[in-house]
Amino acid sequence: MTPPDPRALRTAFGSFMTGVTIVTARGPDGAPVGFTANSFSSVSLDPPLLLVCPGKFLSSHDSFAACRHFAINILAEGQEEVSNTFASYKGDRFARVAHRPDLHGVPLIDGAIAQFSCTTHQCLPAGDHSILIGQVRDFTHVNGAGLGYVGGQYFSLGLERAALDDTMDTAVCGAIIEDAGQVLLEQTSQGFRPPQIACTDRGGMRRALCEDLVARGVAARLGQAYSVFDDREAGTHFAYFLASGALAVPGGTLQAVAIQDLSNLTYSTAAIAVMMTRFAREARTRSFALYLGDAQRGDVHTSSERI
Ligand SMILES: Cc1cc2nc3c(=O)[nH]c(=O)nc-3n(C[C@H](O)[C@H](O)[C@H](O)COP(=O)(O)O)c2cc1C
Repeated sequence: MTPPDPRALRTAFGSFMTGVTIVTARGPDGAPVGFTANSFSSVSLDPPLLLVCPGKFLSSHDSFAACRHFAINILAEGQEEVSNTFASYKGDRFARVAHRPDLHGVPLIDGAIAQFSCTTHQCLPAGDHSILIGQVRDFTHVNGAGLGYVGGQYFSLGLERAALDDTMDTAVCGAIIEDAGQVLLEQTSQGFRPPQIACTDRGGMRRALCEDLVARGVAARLGQAYSVFDDREAGTHFAYFLASGALAVPGGTLQAVAIQDLSNLTYSTAAIAVMMTRFAREARTRSFALYLGDAQRGDVHTSSERI
């Protein structure tokens, strides 16, 4: 039997929707270690067991394989930056993120919706990962939506549901589709705007938008919600999503615009101008926040500013 193609397998594994956790411990020298993990699973209630799979490629793998105590922190929506820090920042990750010690001195990440303090029950080798099984000794839990992850992208179910749960008459759903430093925009008589559709079925907005894009010859994959706001005067609810795609521009009113040129364009509405300017700014650091509010006022939700 030929082994499966690792890239295709990774993509298939990645289609499983998960939450996002930060796994923390202290190394043999007492220094805190931590990494982002979505391989977390609950295992047993009696005794209370959970597991996570640290990769052998982690700089902290041996610390986790040998640790007597560790903690799992389930991230809340809005904590994308915390996840990114513990997935890729090479400096002192704990200097960037507020935390406090648990009963064993293991760092617990502030703002997580659940934190499990564990003693190591077992650590098993499993291919290029280990399976670290912990017995829960203490935990906290607050109500709230967790940060979601699928197909290599974050999503925020709670915020996206709240965004859909409104009383506006019509809904407009659009996509900021990015590829290789460019964004696909539609030119209208009022100015530029992301490709968008108007619809009445809130529940089917994303699907309807995808179908519309396909019909217009645009292959795009929708990611996290980026800007969700109501225009009360117009009685319209707007939801824009980040998306990736191959920008083979199908022509017509659609055109690819370099991200650095976005702040020089005239947009169809002031709200879209603000959104696209924010997008151009945030694209520099690849740190995209979610705007929730109305056309004039709202909150930008980042890891440190949460509802
Ligand atoms: C959402 C997400 C989930 C991840 N899940 C895991 C995981 O379950 N196990 C793992 O070993 N690495 C996982 N990673 C990758 C590690 O977080 C990353 O390789 C690690 O932080 C690198 O740490 P290092 O620089 O100390 O080696 C995940 C990354 C992300 C963004």
